[in-house]
Amino acid sequence: MNFIKRNGEDREHRHFEQKLRTLIEVGNELSRVDSVDTLCRRVVELGRTRVGFDRMSIWFIDKDPDFITGSFGIDEIGQLRYEIGERVAIADDPAMRQIHADRAHSLLRVNVPLRDHKGRAMGHGSHALAAIWNGQKIIGYISTDNLLKKKPITEHDRELLELYASTFGHIYSLKLTEEELQTAYTKLKDIQYQLIQAAKMEVVGELASGVAHEVKNPLGIILGGIDYLTQRLAKDDKNVQLALQRMNDAVLRADDIVKGLLDFSKLSKLDTTLKNLPEVIGESLALVKHQLDRYHIEVAKDFGSNMPNVMIDRNKIQQVFVNLFMNAIYSMPNGGQLKIKMYTKYPKDAPPAIFVDIEDTGTGIPEDILDKIFDPFFTTRRDVGGTGLGLSIVRTIINLHEGKVEIANRKDCRGTKVTLMFKI
Ligand SMILES: Nc1ncnc2c1ncn2[C@@H]1O[C@H](COP(=O)(O)OP(=O)(O)OP(=O)(O)O)[C@@H](O)[C@H]1O
Ligand SMILES: [Mg+2]
Repeated sequence: MNFIKRNGEDREHRHFEQKLRTLIEVGNELSRVDSVDTLCRRVVELGRTRVGFDRMSIWFIDKDPDFITGSFGIDEIGQLRYEIGERVAIADDPAMRQIHADRAHSLLRVNVPLRDHKGRAMGHGSHALAAIWNGQKIIGYISTDNLLKKKPITEHDRELLELYASTFGHIYSLKLTEEELQTAYTKLKDIQYQLIQAAKMEVVGELASGVAHEVKNPLGIILGGIDYLTQRLAKDDKNVQLALQRMNDAVLRADDIVKGLLDFSKLSKLDTTLKNLPEVIGESLALVKHQLDRYHIEVAKDFGSNMPNVMIDRNKIQQVFVNLFMNAIYSMPNGGQLKIKMYTKYPKDAPPAIFVDIEDTGTGIPEDILDKIFDPFFTTRRDVGGTGLGLSIVRTIINLHEGKVEIANRKDCRGTKVTLMFKI
């Protein structure tokens, strides 16, 4: 009799050792997953397929510590269930109540009522529960029963579950910290980028007004001089006239840059009124009509109906649209389509907004310069008179309106898509 018992115990020990080895392998596999969500799902899947548990589910202590919320689980027909959003009061569940009150690591109960995920009784069986620890704190529980396979849950199984929950707790805490770090890093990068951008703008703004005023007067004098010389010098000497013409063009170009800089330095204050955006877009289109016709560009408008009015500085927003339309036009020297689409969004987690998409069928923007196009003075069109201030002005004006501007290459065809967001 004793001999048979010892034999049985030996077998169970060997079985337990084998399970422990599996647990280590599973732990290694779990530590390689890339997110907390995947980790929870894999714990339930591998707990069943590799470690040999039956029905299993993970519960986390809620923000309100009297409740637990679901994660992943296996249902009464053996299917994986996503139970996030399910919330149970600890006081309503006898096993939870007991383990919680005792602050125990694990708990095994035999011949207890087992329930389906809706709480309906499904007969009797064994049930084990193990706490998930994060350092000194219980953050949740892993629960398992024998509803599907009906195999009794032994003391060894309870110990195994306790170890499994402890392994999971360690990996979970690590993954959580990793995810928090990653989020913080991305946020920091974002803020750093915005700070750099803001610093650039401030420096340019300060420099701009100073330099622009200084340069404007001499430019006026040179222009006057060129005018005088054009009248006085031999009109039939083509070379002289050509040289004067070139000087004139160069000074006008310098004057353009100075004007741009002055505009830029005057950007700090807004004069806002409630305006109808389609109207402002219409006025801006009228300002570039000549260029649209010249380059054979068709305009397609899709403004939706009943667009709410927005608080804007009309002149400055006109400047935004003109700059964006001019960029689109210059990207389509052989003609194309300029599409302007307007729509509203009322998201649950963000303020309502109007969006304006401006799409062209032009050259598109090479990927390697996409992160530079908003920099003051960055231009690929210097040889044809670009100053590189257009998009810096656009961004500054839109930021002053607390809106957003994004530029990307189109996915549906060649060309660029600018998206503007205005808060309603
Ligand atoms: N719609 C577009 N299609 C293709 N490239 C564009 C478009 N919009 C902007 N770009 C690129 O971004 C660069 C910067 O644009 P930005 O408007 O700031 O300056 P610019 O147009 O070159 O000069 P300007 O100061 O006269 O506006 C452009 O030189 C061009 O390379
Ligand atoms: Mg431009």
